[in-house]
Amino acid sequence: MAKSVGILTAGGDSPGLNAAIRAIGKAAIGSFGMQFIGFRDGFRGLVENRTVRLDESVLSGILIVGGTLLGTSRDKPHRMPIGSKILDMTDTIVETYYKHHLDVLVCLGGGGTHKNAFRLQKSGLNVITLPKTIDNDLAMTDTTLGFDTALGIATDAIDRLHSTAHSHHRIIVVEVMGHNAGWLALGAGIAGGAHVILLPEIPYNINTVADAIRKRSRYGKNFSIVVVAEGAMSKEAAKVIKSTKKASSKAKNKQDKTAIKSKIQQFESQQADNTRQLTEQLESLTGLESRVTTLGHLQRGGSPSATDRLLATRLGTTCAYMIEKGNYGVMMAVRGDRVLPVKLEEVVGKRKIVPLDHSWIETANQVGICLGN
Ligand code: F6P
Repeated sequence: MAKSVGILTAGGDSPGLNAAIRAIGKAAIGSFGMQFIGFRDGFRGLVENRTVRLDESVLSGILIVGGTLLGTSRDKPHRMPIGSKILDMTDTIVETYYKHHLDVLVCLGGGGTHKNAFRLQKSGLNVITLPKTIDNDLAMTDTTLGFDTALGIATDAIDRLHSTAHSHHRIIVVEVMGHNAGWLALGAGIAGGAHVILLPEIPYNINTVADAIRKRSRYGKNFSIVVVAEGAMSKEAAKVIKSTKKASSKAKNKQDKTAIKSKIQQFESQQADNTRQLTEQLESLTGLESRVTTLGHLQRGGSPSATDRLLATRLGTTCAYMIEKGNYGVMMAVRGDRVLPVKLEEVVGKRKIVPLDHSWIETANQVGICLGN
């Protein structure tokens, strides 16, 4: 009997999602004669039973379209805002799955989506996932859908900022997405010829950064491009977070835990303003006029790159093949030049941050980019 496949996209969108939906659908319907149905707005669509018909006509013409035709959300099955309450909606999701006689639910997303898919697997559903995040921080896969496009957008922006920084003899600080991992900042910084790159993985010393910029001025280069990841922090801030985490692991009573939680919240709201503070510090330490450019959601918008279209199509068709074989509970992972299934338990709860001995760090050092340490 033909299999029934449900699909959803969850978490932040990224270029290449439609290309992946198209590839899974074309292979599932065209090669294996399966039924294919979409759920709207991530896991919420399953709770509210809001579906999208996905036949060949809907799947046509979407290869190059950004975003996701299914819509997305950051809703978690086990903690979903319903009216004024936060409820565990897992049972409703399981009901919807069986109501549609699904054989498998395909979830496209990043770290959070993988945790949620794994939870649903534990509740008895068959799931398969595709790795998608512009942050490139999912474990067990060399790369993720959307990263290459975002890298291209950020690099193009850095290229354009060079001429204005140069003309005005300014420092331009470019904030790039990435709260926990600096892949995008590091990759785009190297590709865009940045002079300083600050990552969450390497806490920076502001004086080291200012020295690097002053040194450029001494050689007649009165402008600098500083690429900073959203989650980059100073050495002092890193110390605070380390000691708070230590205290949190030792906290015994509710009062201590609440106090630590509010300290973390306070710290996070200060951190949200880190790029602006860093820019002001650099202006006062170097005497060079400084400006901030936040790339924000531009990095997630628009048509996927050729590399992401190809990746989406490879991930999607391999996914359809895994469904045909009944190989569930896996993520489609990129390993070298192959797409392979990796057990979800090997992916969940891990994060792929930039290792300090990674070749991109070595490369940045060798071309004289200051990493702030
Ligand atoms: O998860 C990817 C990501 O792009 C992060 O780099 C960024 O911090 C976050 O999403 C922004 O999310 P939102 O669109 O929900 O503000």
